[in-house]
Amino acid sequence: MTSTLIAKTIVLANQKGGVGKTTTAMNLAAALAFKGKKVLLVDSDPQGNASSGVGASRANGGPQLYDCFVGNETAESCLRPTGIKNLTVLPSSIDLVGVEVELISMPDREKKLRKILRPLRDRFHFILIDCPPSLGLLTINGLTAADSVLIPMQCEYFALEGLAQLIETTRKVKRTLNPGLYIEGLLLTMYDLRNRLTYQVAAEIKSHFGEQVFDTVIPRNVRLSESPSHGQTILEYDRNCPGARAYEKLGSELLRRSKQQ
Ligand SMILES: Nc1ncnc2c1ncn2[C@@H]1O[C@H](COP(=O)(O)OP(=O)(O)O)[C@@H](O)[C@H]1O
Ligand SMILES: [Mg+2]
Repeated sequence: MTSTLIAKTIVLANQKGGVGKTTTAMNLAAALAFKGKKVLLVDSDPQGNASSGVGASRANGGPQLYDCFVGNETAESCLRPTGIKNLTVLPSSIDLVGVEVELISMPDREKKLRKILRPLRDRFHFILIDCPPSLGLLTINGLTAADSVLIPMQCEYFALEGLAQLIETTRKVKRTLNPGLYIEGLLLTMYDLRNRLTYQVAAEIKSHFGEQVFDTVIPRNVRLSESPSHGQTILEYDRNCPGARAYEKLGSELLRRSKQQ
């Protein structure tokens, strides 16, 4: 059976750093790939952690997302395989840091990433875009290129702080640049069962956002923080740890919600 693919594009965004964007981008991408979906992980953060996390670090050389933004490279020419058969990465490195400034003077500066990724949409089931911890032009490009936004949130005291601004930015992009954009869901990360505050914060987020919060929560699990230094996703590094099981569950929930199963 052949069918025409049109990738569902999901951007991982939250202007707070350290909330689990990159961890979720890599491991949700891996989980979907293990379920037989063709997945592209786009690293749109100059820190390049998603790239090195799947084994595509700067040392490997070759063109990168930066070269698509400011040069004439096609996204196609930047694609790299990973240790997982169905998972491809479009890598970045610190070079990308200059893009925020260079974009300012470009026409259609918010739509660049959408144009870069367009030729790839019929090659993947899912495209996941990892963003930097800011609401700058790279994140705006991510929101403009995506069908939906997935918001990872750490269950900590100030979790809701800044969320209103992120949602307002999402609405603004929807109004002006990307009318189809919607919130895929809020994901509770680094969930600590032994910490009462976790329950309180989770309850507060659920009371505000109800159904928009994924049923799956990602537990705090040290294996998730170890795997990137081995250039492996959690599904390669320790398939049976709680973190791996949680991301597999999230993959299933996303497929169920996306009705692509
Ligand atoms: N569920 C988790 N359990 C333990 N450590 C985690 C978990 N999720 C993320 N981390 C670690 O927390 C740090 C921040 O996560 P990261 O995904 O890089 O956040 P962001 O991309 O939002 O800045 C990283 O060192 C990562 O390995
Ligand atoms: Mg990150």
